[in-house]
Amino acid sequence: MRERQRGRTVLESSTEMLEVVLPNDANPLGNILGGKVMHLIDIAGAVAAHRHSRRHVVTVAVDSLDFMYPIRVGQIILLRAHVTRAFNTSMEVEVNVFLEDFISGERRQTSSAFVTYVAVDEHGQPTPVPPLIPRTADERRRYREALERRRRRLALAGRAHRKFRTHSKP
Ligand SMILES: CC(C)(COP(=O)(O)OP(=O)(O)OC[C@H]1O[C@@H](n2cnc3c(N)ncnc32)[C@H](O)[C@@H]1OP(=O)(O)O)[C@@H](O)C(=O)NCCC(=O)NCCS
Repeated sequence: MRERQRGRTVLESSTEMLEVVLPNDANPLGNILGGKVMHLIDIAGAVAAHRHSRRHVVTVAVDSLDFMYPIRVGQIILLRAHVTRAFNTSMEVEVNVFLEDFISGERRQTSSAFVTYVAVDEHGQPTPVPPLIPRTADERRRYREALERRRRRLALAGRAHRKFRTHSKP
């Protein structure tokens, strides 16, 4: 039997990442490509999942993703990622994307995504992750809501919703 792992708070793995949008990342209209945003979402989310689990992680599912506003060449793309809940070997990470304009200082949210990562061992096999300890009211709400999202996600993928350990009572 594996030793029960120490829980980690949301803050311990929260990740912020930013990049300036360059012409190479853009379509002919001068807006960042959706695929580039998806790439950055995956990286920011994976860093949060790595920090939480201290394991290699692989992306297993991305929920629906909308692009609400264009981010233009010369603007900053800012990504914030935090783990919302850890299950057995998988973790749900919320990644919020913002644009920031150097000149006006305007910042607005352009996308939000829930990405599921699985921690794997050196053979690529799923391995247990530490529990998440939600502290604030928002973290506890996201923690509760993550369960329903997991149910829907697994049902869509045609997979049974496996039981998992309950680590805390948020
Ligand atoms: C991720 C992977 C190791 C899981 O393998 P598996 O044989 O399905 O393993 P399991 O059935 O034990 O599932 C492992 C976890 O993944 C979760 N999972 C599997 N498919 C999922 C899906 N479609 N959506 C959400 N979670 C999923 C399971 O619920 C389980 O979570 P839990 O342990 O917290 O309950 C395997 O599917 C894989 O290697 N996929 C490719 C990953 C990859 O290369 N990603 C990069 C892009 S290609």
